[in-house]
Amino acid sequence: MNLVLDYTREYKKKTPQSAKLFAKSAKLHVNGVSHNIRFYEPYPFVVKSSTGKNLVDVDSNKYTDYWMGHWSLILGHRQKNVKDALKKQIEKSWMYGTVNMQTILLSELISKAVPVAEKIRYVTSGTEATMYAVRLARSVTGKKIIAKIDGGWHGYTSDLLKSVNWPFTESESSGVVNEEKIVSIPYNDLEASLFILKKHSNDLAGVIIEPVLGGGGCIPAESDYLKGIQEFCKKNNSLFILDEIVTGFRFRYGCIYPTMKLDPDIVTLGKITGGGMAIGVMCGKKEIMEYADTTGKKKSERSYVGGGTFSANPTSMTAGFATLSILKNNKSIYSTINSIGDYARKELTKAFDGKGVVTGKGSLFMTHFVNNGTVEITNAAQAAKCDTRALHDYHFKMIAHDGIFFLPGKLGAISYTHTKQDIKKMVLATSDYLH
Ligand SMILES: Cc1ncc(COP(=O)(O)O)c(C=O)c1O
Repeated sequence: MNLVLDYTREYKKKTPQSAKLFAKSAKLHVNGVSHNIRFYEPYPFVVKSSTGKNLVDVDSNKYTDYWMGHWSLILGHRQKNVKDALKKQIEKSWMYGTVNMQTILLSELISKAVPVAEKIRYVTSGTEATMYAVRLARSVTGKKIIAKIDGGWHGYTSDLLKSVNWPFTESESSGVVNEEKIVSIPYNDLEASLFILKKHSNDLAGVIIEPVLGGGGCIPAESDYLKGIQEFCKKNNSLFILDEIVTGFRFRYGCIYPTMKLDPDIVTLGKITGGGMAIGVMCGKKEIMEYADTTGKKKSERSYVGGGTFSANPTSMTAGFATLSILKNNKSIYSTINSIGDYARKELTKAFDGKGVVTGKGSLFMTHFVNNGTVEITNAAQAAKCDTRALHDYHFKMIAHDGIFFLPGKLGAISYTHTKQDIKKMVLATSDYLH
């Protein structure tokens, strides 16, 4: 019996409207999608609505969602207070293209919660935030090379589109130039990383790292590793940039770096800070961010960093402010979702019984199908060598058969609307797949 074929049949049977609509979508859009990772075989279901922890597709199938808007919806879909705040804002207007009150309100929250955010610049995606962080690092240091992690994902900016997918040595795309200005280092291996960084030390503008490798396998960094990289950066006059686009406001109210006693120069944020609306945030120490100040400077003296048309638009700022306000005033949200995450990792580990390693932290988790007795995964190479096809099939089985949605192959995020009962259901579906 071919299980994948059976589940494909089951999926097709329950999603006829999605099949029709996706065929239309495929005529109109490249791959039928507007973000490469959203496509999966035979076709992704088409969503009609979402509430709380659920997505509903156009055939009215309901899915418990663990993708949660690219992990941005920590309070769940369509959270009431966020929705009410947005409705009020839309009554006033949804686009000003000018300085507005909503931005100042959100920035007051971010600057209090994130100590390094002495100055902030908003954009409309994480990709833009990291792109500008790279430019700023080059402007501040006068150097050109940026180091990133093997398997690190910082969006589609050409400045960081290297060594994302296994094997990390091949170009990720045609059309990317100056790849030699990007070097990559292995996560959680300080000695090997320093060896590479030292080779480029003369021209190293900065190092950008996620404190929990997200797309690369949901793998937490060891704090000594990050401290070692930071120390090297400080001594070498290179900037230490933390990409907290996934981790910011995910595990606690604020970033994760203060808990690791780190002192980054620039931090990028996104996802949760926009409350489900488009956002990217670049923030950092005043003396560094001031390079982006254009007033009275010659072109050669400034770092020409955007925004754009929709940066700091009032709807993103409003949804972000409403979301962070809720998180600020209800810190038990974090203990609740972090403990549900611990429970998920524990129960999934039991269910996999040695066939899988469950990584993650707090409310983020990911399963890796191991095939060689691996018991620990600490970098993206180890994650990539796992059976990623099996992970994809497991996720697809849950979509087709159990009404549970993970974007196939990706990590899961728990929101405040998920319960232990949901995890129990997901673990049962997992056991069913494994046996
Ligand atoms: C760590 C990290 N940085 C940057 C990005 C890019 O953000 P966006 O998709 O908003 O451009 C992502 C997206 O998932 C991410 O995970």
